[in-house]
Amino acid sequence: MEKINVIPLPNKIKYLGGEAVITGREIKKITDEKLADEEYILSADASGICLTASGERGFFYAEQTLKQLGEKCPSVKIEDKPAFSYRAFHLDTVRHYFGVDEIKKFIDAAASVKMNVFHWHITDDQGFRFFSKRRPEVTERASVRPCSNFGRLKEEGAHGGIHTAQQMKEIVDYCAERFITVIPEFDLPGHCSALLHAFPEIGCGGKNVEIKTKQGVFEDVLCAGNDKTFEIVFDILADMLEIFPSEYIHIGGDEAPKKHWKECPGCQKRIRDEGLKNEEELQGWFTKKIVGFLEANGRKAIVWNESLKSGMIDDNVTVQMWMDKKKLSYDFADKGGRVINSEFFAYYCDYPYAMTSLNKTYNYDPVPKEVKNPENIIGIEAPLWTEFINNFDRLCYMAFPRFTAAAETGWTNKGKKNSADFIRRFEAYSEYLKSIGINPAPKKDWNPGVINKLGNLISFFSQYIVR
Ligand code: ACM
Ligand code: ZN
Repeated sequence: MEKINVIPLPNKIKYLGGEAVITGREIKKITDEKLADEEYILSADASGICLTASGERGFFYAEQTLKQLGEKCPSVKIEDKPAFSYRAFHLDTVRHYFGVDEIKKFIDAAASVKMNVFHWHITDDQGFRFFSKRRPEVTERASVRPCSNFGRLKEEGAHGGIHTAQQMKEIVDYCAERFITVIPEFDLPGHCSALLHAFPEIGCGGKNVEIKTKQGVFEDVLCAGNDKTFEIVFDILADMLEIFPSEYIHIGGDEAPKKHWKECPGCQKRIRDEGLKNEEELQGWFTKKIVGFLEANGRKAIVWNESLKSGMIDDNVTVQMWMDKKKLSYDFADKGGRVINSEFFAYYCDYPYAMTSLNKTYNYDPVPKEVKNPENIIGIEAPLWTEFINNFDRLCYMAFPRFTAAAETGWTNKGKKNSADFIRRFEAYSEYLKSIGINPAPKKDWNPGVINKLGNLISFFSQYIVR
């Protein structure tokens, strides 16, 4: 029997026999408050089309399914709700700038597969894209780098761009219409070279810091011993809160080298004054200050998993796991903390298919067996960093179909998933992507064989080798 081509695969599909015409039919809508917020029922048969949900979000998801059923389909009754509550995609518009029109295409793609969070990475070493009303110096001084030297991807000339308040609000509204929450990331206290270029006085030693033109992890971090650091950070965060209404704000915490903190009298004094044991605890203290600011303003924080090394993160903070010491994240979940899984080797879409094939992304189980409280793994996120991605076609090539595969893991129960069937459905769904200007990677690249794999890996990683 012919099957429906819907991504993510609905969790309960009953084929009723016969065919249903979709195009041009009247759609009956029934509100049933017993259904959960994201749940819906869709029936399409000879008698007509009926959608049932408890509210607008459920109807929106029912409509996404309906759109993918095409002009006609086998008669079905679908009863559907997500496996996970957090289904996110991430975009770094710092390493290479992407504007509103390009971002909206990703949002459309995300909405069509029922993702519900856009994690927007807008501050980093290579530029500060967030427009700050309270601290306009950061925009004036830190939004443009003189050139780009990402390994072999060298681009002469300045690269820059800001997201204005109006543009960011436009993105927030566009997402809200599609039931997607935008969570901005202000990466702290590492990945702050651009901010330090604008305000050198809040770095340890107060020396001039260049906006970085290369990829990597840099020693320039915000000084935790200087109260001015928090004045500036809180001003910028206050601006962010005015633009982004999300319950959660991402405050980074990844890849923060401790070299400067070890050498800085101010940071060492803070360690002594606060009775901290070492620089990891200083990062814990720093994080708690930022979390405190957010909570005083009615918001909560998400941090990358390195923040757990301090041993000071309370379960009011959500942790995003990507790499390194995974046990800390699992223990955090076991003790009641919420964890988002964006496992590096499964979901990092900026790495080549030769390293992370479509099947690897698709088949990865975001709830590791070691976790005793699986309900605390609240969902998944597919990150897309852009050091080596300098145009929209490449962005789409890297993201699709892996981004879509991650979305299916976010929605479809593990036992229902099947990679061969996903590939069959993706071929139909890719027509939709192309219609909105997104060209996915060609099928031959999704799961490369050994020889292609080797060639692709060498070519990708040799980008780092610069003569
Ligand atoms: C990360 O990829 N540095 C979170
Ligand atoms: Zn310092």
